[in-house]
Amino acid sequence: SERTKVKLLLDSGVVGTDVAAMGWVRTKRGNKNVVFVALNDGSTIHNIQVVFDMTRFTEDQLKGVTTGACIAVRGKLVESPGSGQRVEIQADSVELLGEADPSTYPLQKKGHSLEFLREIAHLRPRTNTFGAVLRIRHAMAYAIHKYFNDKGFFYIHSPIITGSDAEGAGAMFRVTTLDMNNPPRTEDGKIDWSEDFFGKEAKLTVSGQLEAELGALALSEVYTFGPTFRAENSNTPRHLAEFWMIEPEMAFYDIQDNMDLAEDFLKYLIRYALDNCKDDLEFLNKMWDKELIERLKFVLENPFERLTYTKAIEILESANQKWEFPVFWGADLQSEHERYLVEKHFKKPVILTDYPKEIKAFYMKQNDDGKTVRAMDVLFPKIGEIIGGSQREEEYQKLIKRIHELNIPEKDVWWYLETRKFGSAPHSGFGLGFERLLLFVTGMSNIRDVIPFPRTPNNCEF
Ligand code: 4AD
Ligand code: MG
Repeated sequence: SERTKVKLLLDSGVVGTDVAAMGWVRTKRGNKNVVFVALNDGSTIHNIQVVFDMTRFTEDQLKGVTTGACIAVRGKLVESPGSGQRVEIQADSVELLGEADPSTYPLQKKGHSLEFLREIAHLRPRTNTFGAVLRIRHAMAYAIHKYFNDKGFFYIHSPIITGSDAEGAGAMFRVTTLDMNNPPRTEDGKIDWSEDFFGKEAKLTVSGQLEAELGALALSEVYTFGPTFRAENSNTPRHLAEFWMIEPEMAFYDIQDNMDLAEDFLKYLIRYALDNCKDDLEFLNKMWDKELIERLKFVLENPFERLTYTKAIEILESANQKWEFPVFWGADLQSEHERYLVEKHFKKPVILTDYPKEIKAFYMKQNDDGKTVRAMDVLFPKIGEIIGGSQREEEYQKLIKRIHELNIPEKDVWWYLETRKFGSAPHSGFGLGFERLLLFVTGMSNIRDVIPFPRTPNNCEF
């Protein structure tokens, strides 16, 4: 069809030309002489105004043109006398593609709460807010690939179904073809996974890191970007059971290089959003978070604060603050502690390093003190932890010792261990939670509102 996207019409449509537009009616108003329809096709936050001269249309022709209906309009692009838009369409014809009965269509003109919109996840992309969020989500995904491609990193596709659970990042979802009401059993009564599709217990991955390491130890600089799954029952505004993670992994990078990359990467993405998602950010700033754009710019202007976990604990211990979770050396930091450091103490993003080995994964490079590992977490205002990463233990003897201490079965990680036997190299990497990034960039305050179909406990309708 000769349809033109609304964004193109608004940005560069030529006044005086005949045009066709298709989209969903946001509002209709007017009188018996003239009717104005605000039409949106999702290409931009802005609607195009369609003007119906009612000397040329019958009321009947516009009867089905109600909020939510889908229409095709043909007409002339003319200069708009109204403020706020450069052009509008003077309609010659209208075709109703899909009606939306006003008595049952849930998205009428008035604003809706985000909680209500979560219950109609099938329709919420048609709201201004979710249109903006989804366009920004797309832009960020594109910018991530662009950033790494421009730097010569290669995109590695790590598996979603995996037989390995060595990461230890959280509880895993099982993938099985067995009839779990009546599973086959071995002589000692245990479920016989050898009868299952893969011949062993398979699960959904919690992280693509270990596979990314295999890639880095061959292609030097790689990244993954895919869905990851955690079966913890954590009902918070910052946790999903299914979230997307970006995991760069680089041979020949130490922890300093890793921190430099993480900071540069985050700043690049935020700058990209400011440069390329202006209209959507302005809308979200006006609608939900009056400090959004200011906060995004502020992060760009300042170097992130870098300090050790040990130093951070000292700051938290001497803070004049009542904690819900106790602070002591060895404690896993909670969101309240992370946000105190970022929002109250340093007032900028913070990178904490050198965490106690007991609260971090087996693969992190051990420091000479015998107590800490070369971990790094990036903490952001409003979010807390946005990135977790580390330099990796590349020495076979140290790694195997740690694996034994943690009772990880060697048969589960033999393939990982081989990379430390054959051509091992110093290397580092990190994981950025895509939805945590989007929380920051969009200013939304619940992670359920930055992913099209959130998967959380008791939420898997479709
Ligand atoms: O800190 P995490 O668990 O680290 C890893 O999985 C490492 N394998 C990463 C690496 O070094 N390659 O998770 C990394 C990030 C967190 O900082 C957070 O942003 C996000 O993933 N994340 C979640 N996002 C949403 N919902 C959840 N349940 C999340 N768990 C982690
Ligand atoms: Mg973490």
